[in-house]
Amino acid sequence: MVDSSHTAFAIKEISKNSQFQQVSQNQIFRNYEYNLDFDDKVLGFIRWIFKNNAEFRHSCLRWVAVLSQLLPDECLPLKRTITFSDGSKALNLSSPIILAAGANKNAKSISAYSNLGFGGITVGTATRNFRSGNPHRPRVGLDEFNRLIYNSMGLNNDGISSVAERVKKQIEKSHNRGMAVGISVAETPTVTDEASRLQDILETFTIGYGVADYIEVNVSCPNTGEERLDLDTKFMKSVFEGIDNFRKTESQRKSVYAKLSPDLTEKQLCSILDLLAPLGVNGVILGNTYPSEHLFYDLPILNAKGTSGGISGRPLYENTFRKTIFAKKHFPSLSVVACGGIDHGLKVRDLLNEGADFVQAYSVSAFRWNAIKKMNREFFGAV
Ligand SMILES: Cc1cc2nc3c(=O)[nH]c(=O)nc-3n(C[C@H](O)[C@H](O)[C@H](O)COP(=O)(O)O)c2cc1C
Repeated sequence: MVDSSHTAFAIKEISKNSQFQQVSQNQIFRNYEYNLDFDDKVLGFIRWIFKNNAEFRHSCLRWVAVLSQLLPDECLPLKRTITFSDGSKALNLSSPIILAAGANKNAKSISAYSNLGFGGITVGTATRNFRSGNPHRPRVGLDEFNRLIYNSMGLNNDGISSVAERVKKQIEKSHNRGMAVGISVAETPTVTDEASRLQDILETFTIGYGVADYIEVNVSCPNTGEERLDLDTKFMKSVFEGIDNFRKTESQRKSVYAKLSPDLTEKQLCSILDLLAPLGVNGVILGNTYPSEHLFYDLPILNAKGTSGGISGRPLYENTFRKTIFAKKHFPSLSVVACGGIDHGLKVRDLLNEGADFVQAYSVSAFRWNAIKKMNREFFGAV
């Protein structure tokens, strides 16, 4: 079991980073609390039963989605259409809450997630070929007290061809159920020479682009043991130039998002956005799981820096909120998607009011039973 007092250092690190935007000090920040209902307590009991098998517990979300198809749909009028000034295909969402990447890595049972209340789903992250991810166990764990998940999965997935094939088969049904489907792609961490790296990520992108509604390029995975792409701006520029050139040859333009790390400083975030905007990138996901060199959890050390993965969930929210405001203020034409610690419908409302086009969530589904439906209701009641 994890002693949650050990998280204090990592959480302090996140909140220090959250203060970086002087510009947003006047914005009202509220970390809304939710009541623990009876069903949330039952979920807590289920978490306790599977406490030694965290990866299995994570895979259960898919089965909950499949079984929830037996229940009647809840149709709240929360539809959103996201349009893009460059003519990229619009995204039609039945709710502003989308399932974040990592929860359904292999694109299985996609349309079932609409029954959980999601207005869309990002599957993946997919790499060029199958990867088993990091070899150690456990690779994922949960801190009850702080309502966070820590992980060092290391991009395990079936490979882009299998993922794209499954998306192709299910996308029409997903659209009929009000969901947009995106694929998250990343470079293969073990490829090292520059030309092969570029070829690897561009091939992965191209296969995903052929079938998905939008593509997320994951440039910020903190737990493969490799340097993150968002810290290697020269190579990142080549990747997005390649993507831009490819998109110009396609008859149908689709939106492309870059998923950035939540630990970027103001200066880093600005220089990345300055680089991405002229290359036709439509938007950014802010952000990924929070990499920390100060995690004290029971994950093995992964790389030379001693980083042991990242954390997700409630402690990320203030950082998400302030970064969303910052990005929107400095780059108003970018589509901003808030992600990190979003666990209440009023947070969704606040983020959309601050200019986010939609939000992504994942960890909350481990802590609130029927989380997204509850958040949709809280959001609906507030607008
Ligand atoms: C177990 C786990 C696996 C994840 N895998 C991925 C992934 O493959 N690709 C990715 O872009 N993000 C991945 N993430 C990050 C989430 O998509 C999300 O950015 C992060 O968890 C913050 O959102 P949350 O606080 O709502 O969970 C993962 C997160 C967790 C907890």
